Amino acid sequence: MLKTGLNIAHFKEHVKIIEEETVEYFQRWGDSGEKNLFEALSELIILTASSCLHGKEIRGMLNEHVAQLYADLDGGFSHEAWLLPGWLPLPSFRKRDQAHREIKSIFFKVIQKRRQSEETVDDILQTLIDATYKDGRPLNDDEISGMLIGLLLAGQHTSSTTSAWLGFFLAKDEALQERCHAELRAVCGDGMQPDFDQARRISHYLEYTGTSLTTAGGYTIPAGHQVCVSPTVNHRLQDTWVDRMEFSPDRYLNDNPAAGEKFAYVPFGAGRHRCIGENFAYVQIKTIWSTLLRMYHFDLVDGYFPTINYTTMIHTPHNPVIRYTRRDQGAARS
Ligand code: HEM
Repeated sequence: MLKTGLNIAHFKEHVKIIEEETVEYFQRWGDSGEKNLFEALSELIILTASSCLHGKEIRGMLNEHVAQLYADLDGGFSHEAWLLPGWLPLPSFRKRDQAHREIKSIFFKVIQKRRQSEETVDDILQTLIDATYKDGRPLNDDEISGMLIGLLLAGQHTSSTTSAWLGFFLAKDEALQERCHAELRAVCGDGMQPDFDQARRISHYLEYTGTSLTTAGGYTIPAGHQVCVSPTVNHRLQDTWVDRMEFSPDRYLNDNPAAGEKFAYVPFGAGRHRCIGENFAYVQIKTIWSTLLRMYHFDLVDGYFPTINYTTMIHTPHNPVIRYTRRDQGAARS
């Protein structure tokens, strides 16, 4: 159902929306400085995801209060939430549940209004309103709101963390950053604003980026137990990867070195619950970074490359401050 809404026709519209949101958001950064890149990208991704995945009505309502509700909802996305029952009276759980109720009531109003509207809109909200289950039953407002919240949150930490790390790797590797910039110019022309087809051709950016007793690899997994795969480990396996500890996007320009092994490369999961937002994530992150590289040159602050914060569900960068200079001001680099 959601996959139907995440289609190429929509992505073509999304590139323009994401580019505009990015330019507008980064106006506050001015010409040069040092700022928290992860914080900025987290805020931007809520805005772009809301515009693209929720529709203009919901994006239009995204004020500070709603942003705080998202933050509270997001605060419930923790290790505790994964391991402990949801009814426990933890402050973060209470805030999460209160925010959940409030956001749903906001969405209900938007859905009602859209249902009554004569206007034909082709977006994900409309896809969900028009969708039916196999037995023909349409989704009710509660189900649609839940889907919209799920879409936003599933793509929030994942995309903002990936985008932030990408920024630090580019800042660390001057030659790679300049090659990406040059590629942007080659693919998109002097304006360097990609459309969907061009965004797809830009290569460097994200390419790196039970019910019964079962036995696997000699281990016995009792019924009801969870087995977790760690992409952090999988993507560094000695037998699978050449230069396994290096950030080397070029490795994906040719044949994927791990292509022979089915689950060697699993950033988007695998199997039944594999990510449905992969293509949107590529569109979003490539468009954001195409826009940012057009605008700025990035450097590490005094050579500091963030250490990894393993306490967050998606491993975020510690102290993620980056130095930036507007490109048309740094003549030597543009
Ligand atoms: C770089 C960005 C992203 C990464 C690395 C990523 C990664 C993943 C992974 C590993 C899973 C599987 C989880 C599991 O096995 O239980 C997953 C599931 C999912 N992702 Fe993503 N994701 C990203 C972006 C997005 C975006 C932008 C969206 C929405 C537009 C999204 C929507 C979903 C949904 C709905 C699921 C659950 C699918 C299911 O349970 O059937 N993801 N993602």
